[in-house]
Amino acid sequence: MEQRLSWVPKEVDVSKPSAARVYDYFLGGSYNFAVDRAFAQQLLAVAPTMPMVCRQNRSFLRRAVQHILGHGVRQFLDIGSGLPTTGNVHEIAQAAYPDARVVYVDNEPVAVAHSELMLKDNDSAIILHADVRDPESILNAPETRSLIDFDQPVALLMVALLHFVPDVDQPAEFMARYRDVLAPGSFLALSQGTEERQPPQVHAVRDLYNQRANRVTTRTSAEITSFLGDFDIVEPGLVFTPEWRPESPSDVPDEPELAGFYAIVGRKP
Ligand SMILES: C[S@@+](CC[C@H](N)C(=O)[O-])C[C@H]1O[C@@H](n2cnc3c(N)ncnc32)[C@H](O)[C@@H]1O
Repeated sequence: MEQRLSWVPKEVDVSKPSAARVYDYFLGGSYNFAVDRAFAQQLLAVAPTMPMVCRQNRSFLRRAVQHILGHGVRQFLDIGSGLPTTGNVHEIAQAAYPDARVVYVDNEPVAVAHSELMLKDNDSAIILHADVRDPESILNAPETRSLIDFDQPVALLMVALLHFVPDVDQPAEFMARYRDVLAPGSFLALSQGTEERQPPQVHAVRDLYNQRANRVTTRTSAEITSFLGDFDIVEPGLVFTPEWRPESPSDVPDEPELAGFYAIVGRKP
């Protein structure tokens, strides 16, 4: 049985793995509990590529942020931001542009608690405890409004998030709401798990998450692309994470589909 550490927020069920903390474990972080590590071992037994999937996803996030910064956008809304780890969005953005502003959002209390600690001395970045499925609670929060000017272009990031939202929660509807509120020139960057071109182990991974942690909904390329609505899709379009604007051709593995997540970035016309 997991010993309850004093800093763990009261609402956290330490007997159940969380996707945020398992992802942290696969990235080599230490914000995870014994239950998360045991679950990660179960996943590794069926899919040894999981740490690579997470690293490739995180690298896509970095490249997407750098690309968007290159287009002059200085304000970021990062929903499903996860636990602090290497290459947090505010670190990438503020290293290049100290005036860049970041609102992080997550519904996992441990991710929120650690992000609060990380950001306590940063006036230009904040974490909001909220759920992507409730856009108004995010878009109208005073914290969001204090840092983000929706009359100016915004980068909306939903990286490795939407596979944790089932269709019954109507992602098409809330995605339309987020797209509507963004000014022309804004970006939407996302990645999401798929079963297209995947080895059979992907079913076992999905089933394990469904039984023990967050429910997972994989999606097709058409379903994922539809989340971008009428945005102009940035080249190279929808591809597996390592194929999205790699820094060097040698960074793309022989079988990029084994990175498991599609990546896509669009810009509001
Ligand atoms: C795999 S992590 C991705 C972290 C980061 N975006 C990245 O790509 O490196 C997914 C995150 O989404 C969060 N999440 C899952 N469902 C959510 C929801 N309904 N609303 C907000 N966050 C959610 C989880 O708590 C977790 O921190």
